[in-house]
Amino acid sequence: MTGRFAGRVAAITGAASGLGRAVAEALAAEGARLLLMDRDAAGLEALAARCPDALTVVIDVSSAADMARAAAAGLDRFGPASLLVTAAGMLGPTAPAVEAEEADWDRLFDVNVKGTWLAAKCFIPQIRAAGGGAVVTLASAAGLTGSLSLPAYSASKGAVVMLSRSLALAHAPEGIRVNCVCPGSIETPMLDATFAAAADPAARMAEFRARHPLGRFGQAREVADTVLFLLGEGAGFVTGVSLPVDGGRLA
Ligand SMILES: NC(=O)c1ccc[n+]([C@@H]2O[C@H](COP(=O)([O-])OP(=O)(O)OC[C@H]3O[C@@H](n4cnc5c(N)ncnc54)[C@H](O)[C@@H]3O)[C@@H](O)[C@H]2O)c1
Repeated sequence: MTGRFAGRVAAITGAASGLGRAVAEALAAEGARLLLMDRDAAGLEALAARCPDALTVVIDVSSAADMARAAAAGLDRFGPASLLVTAAGMLGPTAPAVEAEEADWDRLFDVNVKGTWLAAKCFIPQIRAAGGGAVVTLASAAGLTGSLSLPAYSASKGAVVMLSRSLALAHAPEGIRVNCVCPGSIETPMLDATFAAAADPAARMAEFRARHPLGRFGQAREVADTVLFLLGEGAGFVTGVSLPVDGGRLA
């Protein structure tokens, strides 16, 4: 297998759909061996059929036992991972922050924040054992600014941004780079769900599109290209960055 990531072992959460799937396909095309994790078993199987030599493990990223089981399965199959991408995430409650239900708030933070932390906790020791490598977390442009429509989501992604920066500081001496990608609105099933949840989906879609100076939504492949850049040697001196991929939304 040839390519920029030939022979490298990459662990990816949220691999069954959207951005995680686009990253998986791009890494497979560049020669990486993949540990694909998601709670969507059918989505994982469909993806694995297109990624030679991939191992799929069905997990809930908020479960420490599930994450540890997946990490052990990957280690058995491939040896230690040197690349990690955390793409599993959810939107959570759309209510104003003070009206959100406690259970919805807790579930959102369990998946978006705890799920990212657990992935780092289980895979950074493998990356260290591999002699170094790179982590890319998926936060959001909404993690770098407040949000009227998704306040809980914005808070959870702000936490992912800061966790990523702290991990970058902690693990730089071990040759482990940690960067965070902050997408604007990208055409995936999650974006469709955002519009479907709105009282007036067409108006919400127009409002979201208008936030992006480039005048369109992003494509999953554009985010995957950025993730691969940050994982690769071209970003060898880049760590602790929270990089918007947002069509100029935060410019
Ligand atoms: N699409 C966008 O516009 C956008 C913008 C900014 C940030 N993001 C972030 O990018 C990441 C990927 O989003 P996407 O658009 O590809 O969404 P998506 O809904 O298409 O994919 C998310 C994947 O995560 C998985 N997942 C969710 N909860 C899980 C859990 N508890 N355990 C295991 N797997 C779980 C889902 O099954 C799904 O396969 C998310 O973290 C999201 O918040 C997306």
